[in-house]
Amino acid sequence: MTPPAAAPDAGSVRSLFVERFGREPEIVASAPGRVNLIGEHTDYNGGEVLPIAILRRTWVAAGRPSTDAGGAPMLRAVSANQPAAMGTAPLSSPKRSGQWWDYLTGVAAPLLERSGRSDSIDVAVASDVPTAAGLSSSAALEVSTALAVAGVLGLELPLEEAAMIAWRAETGFVGVACGIMDQFASALCRAGEALHLECDTAHYDFAPFKDALLIFDTAIPRSLRTSHYNERRAECEEALRLLRERWPDLPTLAAAEPEQVMEAHLPPPLDRRALHVSRETRRVRDAVAALRAGHRISRELLVGSHESLRDLYECSRPELDWVVERAITLPGVQGARLTGAGWGGCAIVVGDEDALREAGPVLAREYESRFALVPRLWLSTAASGARVEASG
Ligand code: GLA
Repeated sequence: MTPPAAAPDAGSVRSLFVERFGREPEIVASAPGRVNLIGEHTDYNGGEVLPIAILRRTWVAAGRPSTDAGGAPMLRAVSANQPAAMGTAPLSSPKRSGQWWDYLTGVAAPLLERSGRSDSIDVAVASDVPTAAGLSSSAALEVSTALAVAGVLGLELPLEEAAMIAWRAETGFVGVACGIMDQFASALCRAGEALHLECDTAHYDFAPFKDALLIFDTAIPRSLRTSHYNERRAECEEALRLLRERWPDLPTLAAAEPEQVMEAHLPPPLDRRALHVSRETRRVRDAVAALRAGHRISRELLVGSHESLRDLYECSRPELDWVVERAITLPGVQGARLTGAGWGGCAIVVGDEDALREAGPVLAREYESRFALVPRLWLSTAASGARVEASG
């Protein structure tokens, strides 16, 4: 299991702020990474998702410079996870820089505008959310920044709005075409529960989730994921367009019943994409019903989701398929599937915590010798969502 190297916390991000900016921060906030239990590639199709927050968080300390030089408002940002140099960006008419602090600028600039103030803002960041693994480190950074900056500016910011501002920063400023799941999960999740989010309306509720998870990062480089993701989004839009020729009132692709999709005889591969989305969103409903009834999410649902992603959505890879197939043969494992966008990234193995502790090293060893890749593994339970930790 990948050891938690000196996990950052409210105290360490506060110390970083003091060290780099020479005074106390006004506020500290934090937000977690996430994994999705079931409901993959449904969020941008108006469907349902069921993520949990993981036990890894991003911490942000923020404050305004004590002596305001009176110029244009600026962001200054430092991170315990990045090279020592300080990032700076204008907060009025900001431009994307291609640097890590774009996530902060994309969140802070609209909040400053909303506040009607012209303060500069200093931010320090520390995180143990793994990057480039598909665990939403960017959502954790955006959401924690939104809470901290809103606090500094004296703005009331309900968690739903923090999620929305974070999502707009990711899609509109940083320029990544994702659905709303990641930012909403980071903002709204609760310990011991899974977040059931309807992505067409952003309505949500919770279902108890007591199992543990082994998060298995396949260590496959991420480069191909974005282009495939955008291709799938375009295919889904086209599938919806064709279905609407027949059912003009169909609100979203996820709303199409599996029977409708089959009856429509869409051209391949649109038929497979649409069938996955339709069935997957219904699997989420079944999973939520099971959890509410005091059961676990069944192996059929978890593995069924994986097989659909493999065969219909075609976003798996042999490495992910192997992890799933091998994991479910191990004792105490309830089920497994790829999670997040796919084409690499992580699989989750769901089960009893003790059993997963045993399963982890077995899977890691065999994976490494089979694929010559060194995986990263983390154990998690359903953790808490974003929160303000302290204000000065
Ligand atoms: C990525 C995106 C999410 C979602 C998943 C697939 O993680 O960021 O919005 O679309 O892929 O379910």
